[in-house]
Amino acid sequence: MKTRQTKTAMARLLLESLDSVLSGEVLARELHVSRQSVWKIIRELEDEGFEIEPFPQKGYRLRSVPSWDLAPSFLGARLPNECPWGKEIHVYDTLPSTQSEAKRLGRSGGCDGLVVVAEEQTRGRGRRDRVWFSPRGTGLYFSVYYRPRLYPGWVQLVNLAAGLAVMEGVEETTGLRPSLKWPNDLLLNERKICGILSEASSDSEAIRDCCTGIGINISLPTEELSREGLENAGALSRESCPVDRGELLVALLPRFAEYIARLESSGADELLARYRERCSTLGREVTVHTESDVFTGTAAAIGESGELILSAGGERRTFFAADVVHATSKAAFQERT
Ligand code: BTN
Repeated sequence: MKTRQTKTAMARLLLESLDSVLSGEVLARELHVSRQSVWKIIRELEDEGFEIEPFPQKGYRLRSVPSWDLAPSFLGARLPNECPWGKEIHVYDTLPSTQSEAKRLGRSGGCDGLVVVAEEQTRGRGRRDRVWFSPRGTGLYFSVYYRPRLYPGWVQLVNLAAGLAVMEGVEETTGLRPSLKWPNDLLLNERKICGILSEASSDSEAIRDCCTGIGINISLPTEELSREGLENAGALSRESCPVDRGELLVALLPRFAEYIARLESSGADELLARYRERCSTLGREVTVHTESDVFTGTAAAIGESGELILSAGGERRTFFAADVVHATSKAAFQERT
């Protein structure tokens, strides 16, 4: 087991036995390391903010967990053991973009499902080369690098899967009910609280690898919301930062991994059915902005590849990539539903 994984495994064992003292011998046996290494890893966990009480001749007991919600071993230890992703989690204080770092690490031998998180990004990237404003401490910014066994034309389905997973993770950890705007923006009170960017490299047969970057605004201060480009932005909370970003990450990552695994094993039907159920764009009057044009119409359907089908003046148009603005006012929409 690599050092990072051993550290996470030890944090998990300590978390699972909160009320009891774990002997160095048991820890060494479970983790396949020497007693000397156990002691070293305990020190490293303490450096991450775990408070661990030593009991001479007996072992160790966890007294408290790190207060930093993104402490790497704490993130890893909270992920369900059966989650195939997140076996490698890299947390940085600052990065230009988690997207570039996740690709770099993944393509230099990193494991499938590796995660890169940053407290702040200095060059966070959005769709269509836009800037993703990523100030310190007010958001959750991370990227997952994985190697899905999917056809190249299925990248849009990956995008839908990511949107659903984040929506469900937000619902579970905050109790809020964000809506999902095609393809995968999350809205709260019609303001965007999350953006998702998937970048895949493919050959003619299959996707070689994919990197999905997720930016969730947790507590953007009101004054920031008046910045250029953030007019339609919102946040999960306007007050300090009551959302535990680690908990949110740990809630959504296994869901995302599961959606991708089901796409690989059973195709897209189940995902599409769930997506169509939860996508708030469907049935609404919308404006669709492509690189070169603007269209208005009714969002009539989501096609088999995740594309948006717009009905306008008796004609149908299909979009694989575009920005959508919901035209129907929220009140009018709620009246109809
Ligand atoms: C969008 O335009 O809606 C997509 C925004 C994606 C932002 C995230 S934040 C983490 C990851 N790193 C980046 O540079 N971008 C993505």
